[in-house]
Parts: sequence; C-alpha cells; structure tokens
Amino acid sequence: MLKPKSSNIPKPTRYQNAAIDYYMGLTNSSYLHYGYWKPISTHGEELTLTRLRVAQSAYAAKLLSFIPEGTKTVLDVGCGIGGNAVYLCVRGLGVEGLAPDALQQERFIKNTNSQVPFYLTRFEDFPTSRSYHLVLFRDFQEINY
Ligand SMILES: C[S@@+](CC[C@H](N)C(=O)[O-])C[C@H]1O[C@@H](n2cnc3c(N)ncnc32)[C@H](O)[C@@H]1O
Repeated sequence: MLKPKSSNIPKPTRYQNAAIDYYMGLTNSSYLHYGYWKPISTHGEELTLTRLRVAQSAYAAKLLSFIPEGTKTVLDVGCGIGGNAVYLCVRGLGVEGLAPDALQQERFIKNTNSQVPFYLTRFEDFPTSRSYHLVLFRDFQEINY
C-alpha cells in the first residue's frame, strides 16, 4: 500500500508545520514571534490578537533600532514567514531570507510579494560566497530538520 505523502516529512517538521498552520489561522500574522510588550500588560488586562499584532510590530521596530546605521544588506537567518523581512525591506534594507522549511518558504514568498530572495536551507548548509553587512539571528531555534 502506498504511504501518504506526508510520511516523507520528518516528524518534528510535521508537528512544527501543524503548529504554524494553526498559529497563522488564528493570528493572520506574518511574524513567528510573540512581540515586544511594553508596557507589560497588567494583571487582568485582556490579551487580544489586536494587542499581539501591535506588540509584534513593536518588536520589529525594536529590532530595527539595533541595526547600525549604514547597514545595507541583511541575511535573515530563520526568517520564518517574512514579517521581519518585509518590515526591514520597506525601510530600505536589502534583505534575503533563509529557513529550512517549505511551508514557510511558501508563506514567505507570498508575504513578501516575491520581492525578497528566499533560500530553502539550514544556515549550516547555506552555500554562499556572498557577504552581508548583517547576519540576523532573530529567535533562531534549532529544530531537527
Ligand atoms: C521562532 S521562528 C522565528 C521566525 C522569524 N525570525 C520571526 O521572528 O518571525 C524560528 C525560525 O528558525 C528557523 N530555523 C530553525 N532551525 C534552523 C536552521 N538550522 N537554519 C536556518 N533556520 C532555522 C525556523 O524554520 C524558523 O523560521
């Protein structure tokens, strides 16, 4: 009997994809992080998706504030589904992203309107002779791909 196609995908990736799918359906966000909450929510305050989105943009702004002036090119390692790449790109940085996951690749291309190069690879295996002003490791989590 033929095995379903999904069984070719490693288990951790399948779990991760299911979580990403669920998360994206829930938040409709292009970020894969929890945001920068400042001021921190006080006890009893409702944590809404709207506030999550505000916190996620605030995080991207915070991230940008750490990037030294004069930086022109950025390699976004573990770029997720493109939120940070878009944020940096529209502010004039030349961004390229990489992640070892085809589901993220699909979303990244969609969220960046195919304007940002994406490499489907782990950082350890990234074959490049290019150099970048900044190599960004933003919440880069090692998962057994
Ligand atoms: C929590 S997500 C963060 C995504 C994005 N940086 C953001 O802030 O929205 C972690 C990212 O690291 C990627 N990742 C995990 N292991 C990796 C590896 N070995 N090389 C490159 N990316 C990796 C995941 O696929 C995912 O895109």
